Amino acid sequence: MKKFSESIWIIEKPFKLMGAPIGNRCTIVRLSSGKLWVHSPVAIDESDAEAIRALGEVQFVVAPNNFHHLHVRSFKEFFPNAHYQGTSSLQQKRKDIYFDSFLESKSLYEWSNDLEHVYVFGMPLVHEVVFYHRKDKVLIIADLFFNFRDYNIPLKIASKILGVYQKASPSRLFKSLIWNRREFKDSLNDILDLDFDRIILSHGKLIDSHGKATFQNAYQSELGVVLRPGLSEKS
Ligand SMILES: [Fe+2]
Repeated sequence: MKKFSESIWIIEKPFKLMGAPIGNRCTIVRLSSGKLWVHSPVAIDESDAEAIRALGEVQFVVAPNNFHHLHVRSFKEFFPNAHYQGTSSLQQKRKDIYFDSFLESKSLYEWSNDLEHVYVFGMPLVHEVVFYHRKDKVLIIADLFFNFRDYNIPLKIASKILGVYQKASPSRLFKSLIWNRREFKDSLNDILDLDFDRIILSHGKLIDSHGKATFQNAYQSELGVVLRPGLSEKS
């Protein structure tokens, strides 16, 4: 476990996508109540669980999109009393996981004083929900883009196939799942309205500065979307 900011810690684990070691990252936020909010569970062991317990009581565990559900059940074995949240779309996909409540676009939750959430529309097979920690000004994403920098041969090959070699970028697969560009673009603009500089992402190198420019650049160059951070441009 590593500390990322005043209120945020991360746990990183090996993870392979099509044989490529893309890694996997779990984010743990200590809420102002002192209890913990966990984003995107990874495959933890007892020593990880002990480290988490040392930070505080796990109150919420969030599966942030339709792909990040693989370790929810095993995480639940360590933290059975937490409140588990995913989207209703993920519940349809994983009927074997019990979610205590669903993440909705306009709803407020007990953690909403600390974390803002933006539901990414236009991707009905993904339904990613992005989070923003207000006090630390940190954006937390799962698959919205990758940022691989340290390559071995399998990762280099996979990055080239995915179209993410040596750049922070959404993968070709991810882009192919954007079915409604207008809705998607509106969601991106909502994210860019947030006051962040650092980004925690699930796969690749953490973004420690210039996060908003990195985010904007990832989507300007790849999608040709004209984004204006700070403006509610809905065209
Ligand atoms: Fe992912």
